[in-house]
Amino acid sequence: MATRDQVLLLLEQAGDTPLSGNEIAASLSITRAAVWKAVKALQEDGYRIEAVHKKGYRLHGDALSAGCIRLGLRDPSFWKDIRVYEETASTNLTVKELAAAGAPGGTVVFADRQTAGRGRLGRTFYSPPRCGLYFSVLLRLPGGIEQSMLITAAAAVAVCRAILHTTGLETQIKWVNDIYYQGKKLCGILTEASVNMESRELDYLVVGIGINVTNESFPPELSGVAVSLEGVLQGGTVSRSRLAAELLNELQAVLPELPGRAFLPEYKRRSCVLGKELDLISLTETRQGRAIDINENGNLIVQMDDGEIRTVSTGEVSIRPAKDSHF
Ligand code: BTN
Repeated sequence: MATRDQVLLLLEQAGDTPLSGNEIAASLSITRAAVWKAVKALQEDGYRIEAVHKKGYRLHGDALSAGCIRLGLRDPSFWKDIRVYEETASTNLTVKELAAAGAPGGTVVFADRQTAGRGRLGRTFYSPPRCGLYFSVLLRLPGGIEQSMLITAAAAVAVCRAILHTTGLETQIKWVNDIYYQGKKLCGILTEASVNMESRELDYLVVGIGINVTNESFPPELSGVAVSLEGVLQGGTVSRSRLAAELLNELQAVLPELPGRAFLPEYKRRSCVLGKELDLISLTETRQGRAIDINENGNLIVQMDDGEIRTVSTGEVSIRPAKDSHF
């Protein structure tokens, strides 16, 4: 680990207690000048490190670094390579490039900001600096393309569990890939697959997760529909590194649940669409129906207004206001 990251890790571990240059130098077996150089580099990168008179250095706010994330992992060996970039176009694209170059399953890329964050159906994902967790994991799992839908559903459950453990908030899942809190979007998931066309087997999967963590406001097109964890907690703070570690812990924990679908009852329990009247939006049409179930492959079962029962695996749903609502 680079000296800069080791210093960051010590400051993160120390929390609100300032660490003197001597203490840092002694624990890393480096000179005080090297400590000062590392602190300066971190400050230049935007970390808020305060020099407290006669006491030392104190880190304010939330640092996102591979070292800090690794501190919170239950099984660090599972996550082979954790990278934190200051900026990338899209962590999904970065991980796909790494996968094509032979990176192992368990490679993870976080970014402090994305310049071209991608959502489902060609949309963008709003990814301003240091406000969220934007990351993608590379999974190399046995199985065919049908696995990708299930993995998205399992990842949604893992995200809800991680949010619950880190913040105490109970969140809901809007089929198939969005995490909501009281009707507003907190998180989106974009799973992309590469398939071997001859064997029809999965080559790899990239699961990209974007969570609004500290945003105080959103651009006009998102305000009213999006919310952040700290926005919900109103005054409570969320450590992005701790949340990141918990997300990786829960993603790892949910993978063995895939073959037996053990996560599905929780997915259904957390669903905010089951039993609701919906607009079913595809590329070619919008039709109305009622969500009646989610099957063992993660597909949504919808009873259309004309009585037809449809199994839906792609597209988008929008919940229609309750019939007795006057607004
Ligand atoms: C959606 O809301 O439709 C899905 C959003 C997925 C966003 C995440 S952020 C990390 C990863 N990189 C991307 O470009 N997209 C995903």
